Formats: sequence, C-alpha cells, structure tokens
Amino acid sequence: MDWGMKNRLSKIIKPSTGRTVMLAVDHGYFLGPTTGLEEPGKTVAPLVEYADTLMLTRGVLRSCVDANVNVPIVLRVSGGTSILGNLANEATTVSFKDAIKLNVSGVALSIFVGSDLERQTLLALADLINEGEEYGVPVLAVTAVGKDMVRDARYLGLACRIAAELGAHIVKTYYCDDFEKVVKNCPVPVVIAGGKKIPEKDAIELSCNAVKRGAVGVDMGRNIFQSEHPVAMIRTVREIVHNDMSEDKAWDFFNTLVSEEKKAGKKGKA
Ligand code: 5RP
Repeated sequence: MDWGMKNRLSKIIKPSTGRTVMLAVDHGYFLGPTTGLEEPGKTVAPLVEYADTLMLTRGVLRSCVDANVNVPIVLRVSGGTSILGNLANEATTVSFKDAIKLNVSGVALSIFVGSDLERQTLLALADLINEGEEYGVPVLAVTAVGKDMVRDARYLGLACRIAAELGAHIVKTYYCDDFEKVVKNCPVPVVIAGGKKIPEKDAIELSCNAVKRGAVGVDMGRNIFQSEHPVAMIRTVREIVHNDMSEDKAWDFFNTLVSEEKKAGKKGKA
C-alpha cells in the first residue's frame, strides 16, 4: 500500500486503537431534509470534536462546514436517486478531481447487491476503487441500504465480501445476528451504520455488540443526531469504540453526561 493511501486510512481508522467513530450526516442525498439535519452545520458543530471522521456530501461540506474544521472527511460520491424512486439506481456523482480538491481522506459509494441494478453499482464501486488506487484515496463501500434488503448474516456477508473482493478498503454494513461471521468473511475493516433511531440504551447495546463481534467502529448518524442528547450519545459511542466500555458502564456514562448537561442548563441539541 502506498504512503498516501496508508496516511489517509490512518486518518479514518485511528492507529492508536485500530478503531473509528465516523459521524454520518449524508442522509439528505436521498432522504432530503432528514429530521435532525435541517441545518446540517448546526447539527455537526457540537459533535465534530468527538468524531474521527465526518461522512457527508459535497454540497453540505461546501455550504455548511467551515473549511477550518479539523476533521477528516469521507465524501459520499454516489447518488442520483431519492427515497421516492429506485434507490439502487445510483451512479457516481462527484469527480475524483473534485474529491481531491476537497481534501478528502476517503470516498464512499453504495452498492445494492441483490437488486436489479447490482451490476451497475458494483462496477461503479470497481471504477471508484481504480481511481482511489491511482490517487491514494481509500474507498468505503456502503452495503444494504434500502427497505427491501433482508439484513441477515448471509446477505450482509455476501455484500461485504463482494465489496472487499472488488478492493474496497473499508466496508459499512448493518449489525445482525451472527455478525462475527460477516466480519470473519470480510478481509477488510467493517463499520456499522446505526440505522433508524432507536432508544439510546438500544443504540448503546448495538454499538457494544458490533465492536465486541469485530467491527472496527461505527459510521453512525440518526442514533446520534436524532437523540435528545447528541453530544452525550457520541461521547458514549466513542468510549465504547475506542475504550471497549461495557454496555452497563456506557449506559451509566451516558446518563451522567445527560445529568451534567441538565445541571449546566445546556440543551442536548445544538
Ligand atoms: C445512507 C448512509 C448513512 O450514512 C448511513 O445509513 C448511516 O447512518 P445511520 O446510522 O443513520 O443509519 O450511508 O446511505
């Protein structure tokens, strides 16, 4: 692996722990004004210091995030569909030149294994990886987005393995039963998405289970920014990911942070 690729990867997955807390705020690219992301800049501002990486689109990066920000960027470079259409019908939406101009540490694209457009999305991933290899930029493959996908270990294992075989440097997927099998069969680091908003205690349990079963971290969005206490939530997820904090301790830690926020009269939300 060349120096540039290694260096960028080290900005996403922290060498000190081999783990990462990625904050995903790219949802608007197909969901539009997602709850909690109506004003992405305001959502991100109090959270960014606790994120190892920010995952978002070019438009939001340019218009809502200060260029002085000190966080590595993983740029979503696929899209072209909305929640009203066929989500699998994505294509690459950002040139590699522009991604490099935006000084990104990685690029991300979704694949839709099992859909009628699987070939199109897999070849788009392969093309992106070819460019990533040329310029030393890691590619994160996002698997299994969409309501029709059965998110079990067999399906997720298939999608993750194919992404890794094509050369993805990191794979993002969902947590499932037998998650350790998905990780074992995927020769590159796996991060989990949080999925739809669930109670904080459940999201904490999900994060603990994922890390315990081999994920190198999370690329989490809604369970952080849609929480009533997003700062407490990302700080708790950080402890789980980087310090292997147990589920019970993490729940106590979260509640302590919430109490402190209340005492200080701070709102959880920006
Ligand atoms: C959608 C994405 C999102 O970034 C991903 O779903 C992570 O966010 P969440 O934790 O809200 O599921 O890649 O394609």
